[in-house]
Amino acid sequence: MLTRLKTKSERKLAKQICKVVLDHFEKQYSKELGDAWNTIRDILITPSCWQYAVLLNRFNYSFELEKDLRLKGYHTLLQGSLPYYPKSMKCYLSRTPDRMPSERHQIGNLKKYYLLNAASLLPVLALELRDGEKVLDLCAAPGGKSIALLQCAYPGYLHCNEHDSLRLRWLRQTLESFIPQPLVNVIKVSELDGREMGDAQPEMFDKVLVDAPCSNDRNWLFSSDSQKAAWRISQRSNLPVLQIELLRSAIKALRPGGLLVYSTCTLSKAENQDVISEILNSYSNIMPVDIKEMARTCSQDFTFAPTGQECGLLVIPDKGKAWGPMYVAKLKKSWTT
Ligand SMILES: C[S@@+](CC[C@H](N)C(=O)[O-])C[C@H]1O[C@@H](n2cnc3c(N)ncnc32)[C@H](O)[C@@H]1O
Repeated sequence: MLTRLKTKSERKLAKQICKVVLDHFEKQYSKELGDAWNTIRDILITPSCWQYAVLLNRFNYSFELEKDLRLKGYHTLLQGSLPYYPKSMKCYLSRTPDRMPSERHQIGNLKKYYLLNAASLLPVLALELRDGEKVLDLCAAPGGKSIALLQCAYPGYLHCNEHDSLRLRWLRQTLESFIPQPLVNVIKVSELDGREMGDAQPEMFDKVLVDAPCSNDRNWLFSSDSQKAAWRISQRSNLPVLQIELLRSAIKALRPGGLLVYSTCTLSKAENQDVISEILNSYSNIMPVDIKEMARTCSQDFTFAPTGQECGLLVIPDKGKAWGPMYVAKLKKSWTT
């Protein structure tokens, strides 16, 4: 009986995987990632082994929650080993696919924690945000990284931008669920096409995060409409153009001496390394920043694939470390042009 039930649920899961997308990924990623793709694929198509990290909200800190997480066997990410890891950011990980229940949004009550793919914190940490800095989150909805940024420091100015109006509503709701109203009031939220931000606010920011629209591999694999998925695959080669345009705009918005972090949640080389190579080849004032130390420091929690770049990391889902895909690249705008 049990075996029959299991087979049924497995069949249900298998049905949800979009074959067109899986076949497409199979071809591309076995070429780009070699044998590592087999493990990555097995994890991506098996939601029962996905893991969920718990990012505590410092604006509604709960000692009890932290104690419970420890009792359940959770441990903290990067326990103090990265030089610029902020003490105020507390993220708990479990090696098993445990998932805490999501909290409901209640007006007047801040949420205590945010569930996320732990690899999403790497682009935020790479920004090395400090109190008082001016920071731009160019593609911000639903707001996970904006929330994480605010766990690291109190920026002097935080600008969260999102082009899609429905997702902008979601972003506002996330901010209101996690951040106290006086702080929400000083966060600027806008609905610009990110490609216009550089001209709108030139050299305004100390730090810019471009968490770009991308193939979003985990999500694509579960597309319910095969026709739509096939259409998206046919349009996929346009994404690097948009990503490069967003980066060009971000570079304009960044002040000389400022840091720029680019991230995606795809394994695709065309949307990751190739985009960054194009930027590095076309700007003499944009320098790669070595990010390998971050990979060394968190290798007990994440598995990385080689990127061939000192400024780029690629987190790949692995057994017991089902985080990613997440590509992170760190760049600096120099004072000379
Ligand atoms: C990967 S998601 C961002 C996730 C978000 N940073 C987070 O951590 O919750 C990329 C976002 O970029 C938005 N986007 C797409 N095109 C854009 C554009 N031209 N300008 C600004 N945002 C855009 C998408 O609507 C999507 O919400």
